[in-house]
Amino acid sequence: MKFLFPRAVSFIVTALCALHSMTSAQRHIVIPRPVEEKYSTGSFILDRKTEIATISSNQELAPVAEYLGNFLEKGTGFVLPSLANGNPPKSNYILLEQDASLGNEGYELTVQKGSVRLRGGDQAGVFYAVQSLLQIMPPEIFRRDGLNKVAWKIPCATIIDKPRFPWRGMHLDVCRHFFPIEFVKRYIDFLAIYKMNTFHWHLTDDQGWRIEIKRYPKLTEVGGWRNGSMVGPYYNMKFDTIRYGGFFTQAQIREVVAYAASRYITVVPEIEMPGHALAALASYPELSCTGGPFEVGKAWGVFDDVFCPKETTFTFLENVLSEVCELFPGKYIHVGGDECPKVRWKECSSCQDLMKKEGLKDEEQLQSYFVSRIEKFLNTKGKNIIGWDEILQGGLAPNASVMSWRGTEGGIAAAKQHHNVVMTPGDYCYFDHYQGNPKYQPLAIGGYTTVEKVYWYDPVPSQLKPAERKYILGAQGNLWAEYITTPQQMEYMALPRMAALAEVDWSLPKNKNYQEFRGRLIRHFKVLDYVGANYSKALY
Ligand code: ACM
Ligand code: ZN
Repeated sequence: MKFLFPRAVSFIVTALCALHSMTSAQRHIVIPRPVEEKYSTGSFILDRKTEIATISSNQELAPVAEYLGNFLEKGTGFVLPSLANGNPPKSNYILLEQDASLGNEGYELTVQKGSVRLRGGDQAGVFYAVQSLLQIMPPEIFRRDGLNKVAWKIPCATIIDKPRFPWRGMHLDVCRHFFPIEFVKRYIDFLAIYKMNTFHWHLTDDQGWRIEIKRYPKLTEVGGWRNGSMVGPYYNMKFDTIRYGGFFTQAQIREVVAYAASRYITVVPEIEMPGHALAALASYPELSCTGGPFEVGKAWGVFDDVFCPKETTFTFLENVLSEVCELFPGKYIHVGGDECPKVRWKECSSCQDLMKKEGLKDEEQLQSYFVSRIEKFLNTKGKNIIGWDEILQGGLAPNASVMSWRGTEGGIAAAKQHHNVVMTPGDYCYFDHYQGNPKYQPLAIGGYTTVEKVYWYDPVPSQLKPAERKYILGAQGNLWAEYITTPQQMEYMALPRMAALAEVDWSLPKNKNYQEFRGRLIRHFKVLDYVGANYSKALY
């Protein structure tokens, strides 16, 4: 008798703890955190008889159903029966539906004992419902080798969700180091997990031109290769003599664009001008102020030789951009615009004559003239330009959007002029920066940007008036590749900061809590383990 009390207490405590750990573990799972995410008792059991159904009016959902079926097949080993455009069965089904009232990219996910319903405001919304469904399943579903369990438990849940921002981006530099198409697709898969919708592909720079242009084959024959690269930190000024390079054929570019589109991701190509153009000038030196000759860049940094704004250069760039516009169906073309020294323009009679003829008072205005001319051309192709914040200098082109990287000032100035802005300030969004103590990290460019710092970034500057805030389209993470030499290292720099940025772009500020996010992220590390990701554990 005397043992009964403590035993009862201990039983109750144990039971309460179990209940508590179950409910608290299940309170929030999904990254980025949804607007509303609720779990209740019971589960849906997915087995080899579960049917994937789209209702008859939603033929356009077939690709999403196929994506889900393929994903589940790779994780479970089940080839699930698919019921396109029929009526849903009585039970044991996953139903995909479209309902415009949920808004662009919005969705509702309802898991009940007999059914799973994925309702999206558009196709992308249904796709995001799929992503949330995968995340609330046991993390083993992310294995790609068909685990062949008999049944998979999915907790009963209601998730009602939509993104905070329309531009949820990640950038990838394939110029300083080259990353093959298989890695580019894997990178896009990570964007998809985190409901990002924009892949900014940095395709041309001083150290390599990476996109095949049929009309100018030397861009990749010559400009795609360099005769050595920097080794170690910049200040050592050490180089190897290894020929290095690579490029994407137009067929590969189309493949990447289609792969991204099937994940509701738009690819924004970046073709740098007027600066960061050395690889192009090595291929076609007549496009410069001096005539060259030039070598594709081996050092990192900024070079004085840039495109000369003469008619032959504009003809060249228009021809290049015409091919680019054919390859990329998205609205935006990124034209670079950053870090363009003006020394050559100051000494070039053609540049100086042009400035007189056009009444331009300095070389900054000449850069503005350059970008505005390119904008006018791209507008005729139905495209809009976006450029780094230097395109503000000398006057912003009339319809240009601005990517604010040197802090947020450029973004604030552009929003005040009623131009769209993507925020990507170095301190928060440059994932080439260190994410842990540099003593224990691979060599990086510098900086210190932890997961927590990324997590707390708010893309809307307090300096903006309410009416100006709508010009902030969202935030983007940038991965420059000077010091990132392999796909494994790229993954390490991207993850898990990409997950934190996804939360910046998608989730509501009022739901933010770093400790809570950290807990979800640690659970999510199991997902990253199953996909074989090389991610940083610096947050421990
Ligand atoms: C940049 O980092 N130069 C845009
Ligand atoms: Zn010139």
